[in-house]
Amino acid sequence: MLSVVRSATLLGAHGRSVTVEVHVSNGLPGFTIVGLPDAACREARDRVRAALLSSGHAWPLRRVTVNLAPSGIRKAGAGLDLAMALGLLAATGAVDGRLLDGCVFLGELGLDGALRPAPGTFALVASCPATATVVVAPGAQQDAVAAGSHRVRTARDLRELLEALDGRRPWPALRPCAPAPVDRAAVDLSSVHGQELGRRALEVAAAGGHHLLLVGPPGAGKTMLARALPGLLPPLGDVEALETSRIHSAAGMRPPGSGLLRRPPFRAPHHATTPVALLGGGTATIRPGEASLATNGVLFLDELGEFPAAVLDALRQPLEDGMVRVARARESVDLPARFLLVGATNPCPCGWGVHAGACRCTPASRARYLRRLSGPLLDRLDVQVVLSPPEPDALLSHSGTPEATAAVAARVAAARARAAARGVCSNAALPTAELEVLAPLDDAARALLRRRLAGGELTPRGLGRVWRVARTIADLDGAAEAVGESHVAAALELRGAATLLRTWTVPA
Ligand SMILES: Nc1ncnc2c1ncn2[C@@H]1O[C@H](COP(=O)(O)OP(=O)(O)O)[C@@H](O)[C@H]1O
Ligand SMILES: [Mg+2]
Ligand SMILES: [Zn+2]
Repeated sequence: MLSVVRSATLLGAHGRSVTVEVHVSNGLPGFTIVGLPDAACREARDRVRAALLSSGHAWPLRRVTVNLAPSGIRKAGAGLDLAMALGLLAATGAVDGRLLDGCVFLGELGLDGALRPAPGTFALVASCPATATVVVAPGAQQDAVAAGSHRVRTARDLRELLEALDGRRPWPALRPCAPAPVDRAAVDLSSVHGQELGRRALEVAAAGGHHLLLVGPPGAGKTMLARALPGLLPPLGDVEALETSRIHSAAGMRPPGSGLLRRPPFRAPHHATTPVALLGGGTATIRPGEASLATNGVLFLDELGEFPAAVLDALRQPLEDGMVRVARARESVDLPARFLLVGATNPCPCGWGVHAGACRCTPASRARYLRRLSGPLLDRLDVQVVLSPPEPDALLSHSGTPEATAAVAARVAAARARAAARGVCSNAALPTAELEVLAPLDDAARALLRRRLAGGELTPRGLGRVWRVARTIADLDGAAEAVGESHVAAALELRGAATLLRTWTVPA
């Protein structure tokens, strides 16, 4: 007898449907799973056996073969247990196989027959056909509900599930989703005093989707500013919320029981984080890394220069293509990774750099320190500013509250709407070839850029970046159709660190 049951498994940042075929025949009693199961998946045999016996079913003394199709992708974990158990019951005639049609079963089994959540349930359900009825463990029901418009059913254990399937009892009621937890480390701009340059850099980065570099001594407020950035970005739309929630689910990072993630994520991996944890991958299964978890939000790399050069180099692919490709002998998986990058660094090994002549570093050691940052990665950071520590008066007098996040976010939203009208998601994505048309310069603006290029303060590569940032500043300004001289001047000011890095990385 053969039966077919639907389930799903995780592959990178996505769920993939899996068809569980169970074949029972005469022959030497045995239980074999084929179709690239990993170790945990293969152990299903023992769990399924105990769960069936605990639920009052017999274990067939026959030859059982389970095939997990498609056979080319690896099946990880215990989430296919439930489908295998039901397939076995259907194949032996203990359950009417027609009751299983149209359903997708996702869950692990306890030895007592209890249903346990399959890791990544949100991602798994998001990959199921919208017409499917999805059956999950009680602990995963909110994840399943949040993931789409599927019919979601749950049961505590195998016995309850079978009774509900054949109509002997109603399905247990579903619990509603809890709101996603608030990020307690988030910073509101109303608590950032002074620091005009930093605040402006943040606003422009948020409005134009420009990657940002903050250079400054310890205590200048780099971390504080970075933590304020997600609050300036618009809340995630339906598509982005689904995508980000799915990635977090597939990585096992979703708070259980919550609904869709509506706030842009903020990820701040430490520089000692492994390349796999940062970019995704893994030996047994391919899991999304921090770069993917930051999708539609902010990836903050504090002490940028301390990250291994190979990692910084590998970041170029997500910055360019919006994804990380993990290639294996057998498979190649694309993990989405579209984020706003914020890097922070001290200006030199001692940390004090330009400030008050306090730096004790030699030009050579400074150059060595900064050279780790230079090159292709820095080329992609449109806004680069050198921050000074906040003025004592700004910290102490507190005359008036600084403008709050909500007010700045409103300007950011208006500027983003102008960029969207141009057909790009943000100005950072304006193609160089179309700058002339989509970000026209007025005569004075053009003259200013020409002077800077001629004087060598602006490199040809830097030109495109200044141009895009100037477009964003004009958008924040509201009225301007063409980009004016003041916008270009302001954009040049938001590149102070680029100039500093260029002069300092040339050893004296
Ligand atoms: N402009 C500022 N307004 C208010 N507090 C500030 C400001 N700059 C720094 N601080 C305070 O100093 C602390 C250290 O700032 P932090 O962001 O950690 O600096 P950095 O990351 O540059 O070393 C912050 O937590 C905050 O309390
Ligand atoms: Mg810091
Ligand atoms: Zn120094």
